[in-house]
Amino acid sequence: PAPGWATEADVVVVGSGVAGLTVALRCAAAGAKVTVVTKARLDDGSTRWAQGGIAAALGEGDTPEQHLDDTLVAGAGLCDETAVRTLVTEGPDAVRRLIGTGARFDADDDTGEILLTREGGHHRRRIAHAGGDATGAEISRALVEAVRAAGIETVENALVLDLLKDASGRAAGVTLHVMGEGRRDGVGAVRAGAVVLATGGMGQVFSATTNPAVSTGDGVALALRAGAEVSDLEFVQFHPTVLWLGPEAEGQQPLVSEAVRGEGAYLVDADGVRFMQGQHELAELAPRDIVAKGIMRRMLEQNAEHMYLDARHFGARMWEHRFPTILAACRAHGIDPVTEPIPVAPAAHYASGGVRTDLSGRTTVPGLYACGEVACTGVHGANRLASNSLLEGLVFAERIAEGIAERIASAPTSQAQQALQTQQALQTQQTPEAATGEGPLLPPEARYTIQRIMSAGAGVLRSAESLAHAAAQLEQVHDGAAETLRRDGKTAEPGVDTWEATNLLLVARVLVAAALRREETRGCHWREDRPDRDDPAWRRHLLVTLGPGDT
Ligand code: SIN
Repeated sequence: PAPGWATEADVVVVGSGVAGLTVALRCAAAGAKVTVVTKARLDDGSTRWAQGGIAAALGEGDTPEQHLDDTLVAGAGLCDETAVRTLVTEGPDAVRRLIGTGARFDADDDTGEILLTREGGHHRRRIAHAGGDATGAEISRALVEAVRAAGIETVENALVLDLLKDASGRAAGVTLHVMGEGRRDGVGAVRAGAVVLATGGMGQVFSATTNPAVSTGDGVALALRAGAEVSDLEFVQFHPTVLWLGPEAEGQQPLVSEAVRGEGAYLVDADGVRFMQGQHELAELAPRDIVAKGIMRRMLEQNAEHMYLDARHFGARMWEHRFPTILAACRAHGIDPVTEPIPVAPAAHYASGGVRTDLSGRTTVPGLYACGEVACTGVHGANRLASNSLLEGLVFAERIAEGIAERIASAPTSQAQQALQTQQALQTQQTPEAATGEGPLLPPEARYTIQRIMSAGAGVLRSAESLAHAAAQLEQVHDGAAETLRRDGKTAEPGVDTWEATNLLLVARVLVAAALRREETRGCHWREDRPDRDDPAWRRHLLVTLGPGDT
């Protein structure tokens, strides 16, 4: 369908987590007219669920250089060192500005100093937290309030569909499917000379994930359809300690933060043996991929469905004070961490790859920017260091805003000229189905088929065989819908569920192709048939761009 309504802005920000709202606030402060569009409500994305915190060299004796070293080690040879240096040197001030925006971090009652904890891969206490284990919720609260106070236009319940481009190929806005927002319901468009993707991750491509239901890879799918370069999709991080809810559990699963290990909890098997000792000098606080692998190995050896995280020694007071969110989640599922070890297993958590950007958040499509989990800035390499993600969202959002503000100030496009360009764009581009030419929309239930295929074939453990099988099954899902389209002239009714399923299939196919292609084990990409890291042959990135007609 053609867009039924349109509005205009200088900048359209897609997504409302730490990255999206930071770009919006900074662009608005620089005088730009900003519209934030978000798929559900403003605080429904992944940021709200972040527990452990935000990493920055804020503590005495800590330095950006030490933070850099830990990040490079975790990234297993694939970090872009300049990007990491930018992250760790600009990080501390970015956190201070976030505090200036209203976020309240846990601090010492007497000195007022921010309290810092440890997480996997960090050799120092450098994780700032809020509300004990509700850091993301506090950051989200502060940013949503600031966006509202600044009077920035927001459109909720708005699923982004495709990028609009002008005649020169430059981004000119986005099309959206909006539900329940009055005059802007149905398919519409926001025209803008700068489009910022901050849509978060794609954890919902797997059956069990810490990600909320909205994390369906929409930004990566949009970028692929728009011809932007995507990188490192094979590097999906599995969080080692997710509350195990049974073999059939699907969808978003409760996280048990790394910070619980940071404060002294340890992993044991069913016999009470601490199996991470002797595997790495940091034992339970080794980088995340090593802990996830340690757990999976022990599960395989013992034919067990999960391991245990033991923090009974914290006692009730510490649990209630320091980890109230996790305590409540465990108790809601009948586990009391004060008196019993917590059953845990790895689940999909974070996409280290995404839409490739430079240090100013620019993608390979002019006018299209990306930041936060949807982006691949180069800071995470093959495995993100714990609590670097909120920081990345913050630092690179500010850099994007700076670039956009400079651009608007130095080359103001007259409103009439911009309206003409976006009018042309609207005439030539519509929904994903139209934009991709031949891509069928999937029925909503395809989401679950895709998730099961991905968890079985492209999860923590992968092999050429499991990946090839997953690839073939994903092709069948695609071909089935294509056949229906040929036969009946349509597949599913266009709507949020069908577009989400369609996006999930696209990102799943690209992810599996990359995982098949990378014939080694590195960081969070674990190939059972290629158990070793292969330097220098594979010390490189896999870049993907779709051509017209690739769906
Ligand atoms: C956690 O609290 O363990 C999550 C931190 C992260 O994913 O960076």
